[in-house]
Amino acid sequence: MTGRDRFLADVDGELAAIRTSGRWKPERVLTSAQDGRVHVESVGEVLNLCANNYLGLADHPALTAAATRTMNTDGYGMASVRFICGTNAHHRELEADLAAFLGTEDAITFAACFDANGAVFEPLFGPDDHIVSDQLNHASIIDGIRLCRANRHRFRSGDLDELERTLQEIRATSSAHVLIATDAVFSMDGVVADLVGICDLADRFDALVMVDDCHGTGVLGPAGAGTPAHQGVAHRIDILTTTLGKALGGGMGGVVAARRPIVELLRQRARPYLFSNALAPGLVAGARAALVQTAQGDERRRRLHRNAERFRRAMVTKGFELAGRGHPIVPVMVRDDHLAGALADALLDRGVLVSAFSFPVVPEGTARIRTQMTAAHTEADIDVAVDAFVEAADAVGWAR
Ligand SMILES: Cc1ncc(COP(=O)(O)O)c(C=O)c1O
Repeated sequence: MTGRDRFLADVDGELAAIRTSGRWKPERVLTSAQDGRVHVESVGEVLNLCANNYLGLADHPALTAAATRTMNTDGYGMASVRFICGTNAHHRELEADLAAFLGTEDAITFAACFDANGAVFEPLFGPDDHIVSDQLNHASIIDGIRLCRANRHRFRSGDLDELERTLQEIRATSSAHVLIATDAVFSMDGVVADLVGICDLADRFDALVMVDDCHGTGVLGPAGAGTPAHQGVAHRIDILTTTLGKALGGGMGGVVAARRPIVELLRQRARPYLFSNALAPGLVAGARAALVQTAQGDERRRRLHRNAERFRRAMVTKGFELAGRGHPIVPVMVRDDHLAGALADALLDRGVLVSAFSFPVVPEGTARIRTQMTAAHTEADIDVAVDAFVEAADAVGWAR
């Protein structure tokens, strides 16, 4: 056996272990646009309960028209990093629009929020500094903090007493920069962070606050400005990251919004900005159109939250254990990897597309079906989904 053969045998072994663990993540193939109902290859039309398409903008004609118009005038791709020759007028306009929408001085875009979170810590915080991170923060925040040389601390998710103790300990010995980093909405749990409590602690201990609002932008707050605006603390957040890949049309792109000097330093130093291609013009124009629709989207937001409430109420009545609150992410707790996978399959058989979440996406022993509502669902869709859950649970013999 060559070294390559042994290596490939190891890879095969790992794949087999994932399959037998019940943690295999199949990829269903859609053959229609992203929407409240989608067409799945070899299955047909199904109700879609697992997209981040909160406002139903992913196939909105204003977005596709803006994107195609701009592709026709500005071409398909930039073929360059922003600082070389990859910045066009649309990038500048989008960043100005984002800053205005999010209520910050400036904004910078990345290929994805995974990149934005990977980019944001390393240029701004050095070995004397401290970053205190919620234990359930998104993988990209965890990775971004790992890439930075600051001292790292973790607190139990949402446990502000532990956060306070950690800040006390840091301040007992250090007057360096301290940053509290948190998801605004914990996407696996549908839990909204207490940003007021976090900002109050930041003030007491002279710390800065970084918030990832990927699941709050467009969904929460006046005009969809996000979780900090929803909780009245937008002006107290130092660094906000978000995505163009969810409520804002579901295209691609990540954002860091902050005071101008912070954004300028990121333009000079952030590695995923300096060493990666600029966003394609069509995506940029689509995102600008998405911001307009989002700001004018109160009716969509009302429908979205009404759908989430309707689903929650009915599912609890039917005896399902749900996680989270106050957000259209509604996780149905199953706690068994195999059962969660079987339930997802049984739901697809009944015309409902959901995804089973198991380790390493969620902690061991907390497998779940994470459902997400959208403004593109009707009330009748929600009722159909609940009935399908009941039937699927019975079909797989789940005594809940
Ligand atoms: C909380 C959170 N942060 C960051 C990301 C990454 O966003 P993007 O898809 O733009 O890379 C996601 C997406 O899964 C997310 O849920």
